[in-house]
Amino acid sequence: MEIVILEDAAEIGRVGADAFTDLLGRRPQAVLGLATGSSPLSVYDELVRRHEQGGVSFAQARAFTLDEYVGLPKDHPERYRNVIDRDFVDRVDFAPDAVRGPDGSAEDIPAACEEYEAAIAEAGGVDLQILGIGTDGHIAFNEPGSSLASRTRIKTLTRQTRIDNARFFGDDVDAVPTHCLTQGLATIMAARHVMLVATGSGKAEAVHHMAEGAVSAMWPATILQHHPHVTVLLDPAAAGRLQ
Ligand code: F6R
Repeated sequence: MEIVILEDAAEIGRVGADAFTDLLGRRPQAVLGLATGSSPLSVYDELVRRHEQGGVSFAQARAFTLDEYVGLPKDHPERYRNVIDRDFVDRVDFAPDAVRGPDGSAEDIPAACEEYEAAIAEAGGVDLQILGIGTDGHIAFNEPGSSLASRTRIKTLTRQTRIDNARFFGDDVDAVPTHCLTQGLATIMAARHVMLVATGSGKAEAVHHMAEGAVSAMWPATILQHHPHVTVLLDPAAAGRLQ
């Protein structure tokens, strides 16, 4: 695990965007793994800026998102598919249908999860996966107690994650869905390069466990210690509990 402590979110954006730009320069048809949430925004903003200047194109790339709430209507602004479109996908030049996410409104949830895994495999697997981390150490929505061998499936969100995400639902924790579909830890571990971004002191404990704690389902991000190519981009506050 390579840990890089950078000055601020803007620098994280530049270093993170370099990884995407280099990959797409070498392999324009690369398969990207996209996370929603605040952590990757500086990377996405920098990629949009470079795209607008002609420095990077996503026209031949494909992408898979990590997770989706269950039960939000298709046009709900906080549905993760709408969030990632707004934050990133619609601001660059992905081809139509090049970006997929788990279907949180599927009638047959287990079949939708299986199909999602098959689609990732059919695309040849993810070349570069960007991740955030939850304050409880979750990655995607693999909450504490998630199987380290898990694949895409339905999960119950913890109270803590619903509280953390209430800011997107008018500060009303009861408006945050109780369930999600999420790539599993084994799905994420199959990506060839994982880049995790964390900023702020609220993430410091989770970052400490991820990098220095014992590998345990109670801190799901610790599984990344077993991945051969992980880059962790931190600001000084998120690095504050590293030894
Ligand atoms: C989002 C996701 C989550 C977030 C995590 C951190 O697709 O998979 O694991 O990365 O909850 O969220 P932020 O970045 O908003 O602090």
